[in-house]
Parts: sequence; C-alpha cells; structure tokens
Amino acid sequence: MVNFRLPGPTPLPPAVVEAMRREMIPHRGPVFRAFYAELLRRARAIHRTEGDVFIWPASGSAGWEVAIVNLLSPGDRVLAAVCGDFGDRFAKAGLAFGLDVRRLDVPWGEAVTGAALGQALETHGPVQAVFLTHNETSTGVTNPLKDLTQVAVDHGALTIVDAVSSAGALPLEMDAWQVDFVLSGSQKAWMCPPGLLIAGIGGRAWEAYARSTFPRFFWDIGAARASAANGMTPATPPLTLLYAFDAALGLIEEEGLEHVWDRHRMLGHLTRTGLRNIGLELFADPAYASDTVTAFRPPAGITAAQVIDAMRRDYGIELQNGQAHLADAIVRIGHMGWAHEPALRDVLVALAAYVARQGAAAGVSLTTAG
Ligand SMILES: Cc1ncc(COP(=O)(O)O)c(C=O)c1O
Repeated sequence: MVNFRLPGPTPLPPAVVEAMRREMIPHRGPVFRAFYAELLRRARAIHRTEGDVFIWPASGSAGWEVAIVNLLSPGDRVLAAVCGDFGDRFAKAGLAFGLDVRRLDVPWGEAVTGAALGQALETHGPVQAVFLTHNETSTGVTNPLKDLTQVAVDHGALTIVDAVSSAGALPLEMDAWQVDFVLSGSQKAWMCPPGLLIAGIGGRAWEAYARSTFPRFFWDIGAARASAANGMTPATPPLTLLYAFDAALGLIEEEGLEHVWDRHRMLGHLTRTGLRNIGLELFADPAYASDTVTAFRPPAGITAAQVIDAMRRDYGIELQNGQAHLADAIVRIGHMGWAHEPALRDVLVALAAYVARQGAAAGVSLTTAG
C-alpha cells in the first residue's frame, strides 16, 4: 500500500471510505434535515464557535471568494499577510474582485508576527479586513494566529482566516481568538476527499455582510443561513461527501479534539527531529514550524523531483515538491489528518536510506550523527 504523505489530499480512514457507500436520501426530507443540522452543530463545536458553520461543494480556494463577496465591497482596503504561495493567492483573489489590497510580505519560510502586522497596519492606514493564512502549506509555517487576530481587531479590522491546512489538526479557537471568518477544505486534516468547503462565520462577519455590496448568488452566506435554519442547503448538497465528513467528525470526537492536536504536535516534532538526524535541512523557521506539513531541502546536488521520484519508485512513498519559486528547492511531507507515527517513521527510514545511498554514490557521507 502507498504511504501517501502529501500535504493534501490526505489519506482516507476506513470509516470515511465506508461512510461514502451510503445511499442517496431526499435532500429536502426529514432524515437529511436532521442529519445536516446535527452535522453543522458538531462542526461548530470543533471550530470552537457559537457562530455559524456552513458547507459548500467546492475546494478550499472558493473560501477566499466566499469571504470577499460576502464581507467586503468593491474598492475596500484590506491587508493581506503573505508568507507563501497560498497567502499570495489569497491576496490575488482580493485584487481580482477590485479590492484595494495592501500587502505585508515576509520571506517564505518565515512567519508573520504580530509586531510586523501591527507595523503594516500603521503604514497602510485603516483597513476593512486582514487576510491571514493560519498554516502556510507551501512552506510548512504556522503563523501565530491568536496574536495576529488580536492586532487586527485592535486596528478595527475583520479577521479572515485561511485555515485550509490547520482546521481539525492545529489549535484553532474561532471565538476566543476573534476569528470572524475561517475557511477550510475537506481534503486536509478533515480526512475526507477533496470537494467540501467548510466556513465558520462569526458575529462581526454578519455585521459586515449587512454592509457588503458585492453581487453574489451561489456563495451567499445569507442564503446558506436561511436554508440551514431548516436543516438544508440552498442547492443540492454533496451527500456522499457530507457522509464522509460525518464519519470524519466522528473520528475526531472519538479521539478528542485536544488529543488530535496533541497527536499532530507529536508528529510534527517526530518528523522534524528525524529529518535533522538524517542531516537534512529544514526549511521553515523552527520557532514557527508547522505540525501538519514539514518542508526540507534536498541534499546538495539533488532536486526535489529526484527525491520524490526515488521515494515513489523505491519505497512506495508519495511526497510533494514546493510551489512557485520553491518548486525544485523543497520537498514537503504531509502529516495531517489520518496520520500516525508508524507511517512517518517509515518515511524517515526511507529518506535515511536514500540519503545514505546518495552519499555512498558520491563517496561521502551526507548524514550527520544524531
Ligand atoms: C493554506 C491553503 N489555502 C488554500 C488552499 C487551496 O485549497 P484548494 O486547493 O482546496 O482550493 C490550499 C491548498 O492546498 C492551502 O493549503
């Protein structure tokens, strides 16, 4: 069996696969309405919010658009905090809708700090919203979200958070951390196939919604709220994926959310320590290294593609390269969702063997004692 270690999509637990065998049911009937109302209640609990959570058939990127067209208006000034490719795309989504997007760019591999955000907000003047990426999947960095939302709120800005590769894996307290809008995708720590956008919406976001003048239809959060009040969705719901999400939430509830967070903390630590012991250089600032995805540089003279090809061919392990200008420069290991210690240890053993082989071929040892 393939050891599937992409930072999304992620492996499906057997219970999730089994859940997707369920038959169709009438999506306006009482069984669905009870099921969906309960599913949203459980999703709210896991988002740690008294606010709303709604689900659309979409990938995570649609969440940027949902936030923009519901909470903002053309020409609104926003500040996008960018420390990698996904933060960059979030900023570009704002530009596509005619927002006045100001950027705080930090070098990829580093985190956005509260101090840097505060300074940028002083420089760019009042903004309607701050675009934040909780976990930058392209670099393996987790930003200090609680600090960042506090700074944004202190400056009177809405907090719109991309939690695509953190929700369900890393501590995220929507209400306590003053997150107004949070988006994630089913194919990451939610342990489901790609195809669901999950969005949490808080009280201040609804106030912003009342002011927003963007045209919208499919993504209208007001329509989602009106339907959800009756246990329904405005359009035909993706039943099979909702069954999958139901099973995945069950697994998280069974393990306990905080234990899930602990498991990810342990896996992040295990992965980083193992890579260091092999002598591989970690990419992210160690103070902000992600517990859902780890990026490392290939040994000198070897490209990311070569490492990935060898892992696939010789060890049945799927890893992923970097994005944008980091495409050849880093290899990423996903350890979120249905991820457990033995599978990560297998990756480390394989990488150690690969690095030793490369070293032997080159007549030197690339490994360091650890
Ligand atoms: C942090 C982050 N944001 C947004 C996205 C985009 O999500 P999707 O590919 O599901 O549209 C991803 C995908 O990997 C991501 O990791």
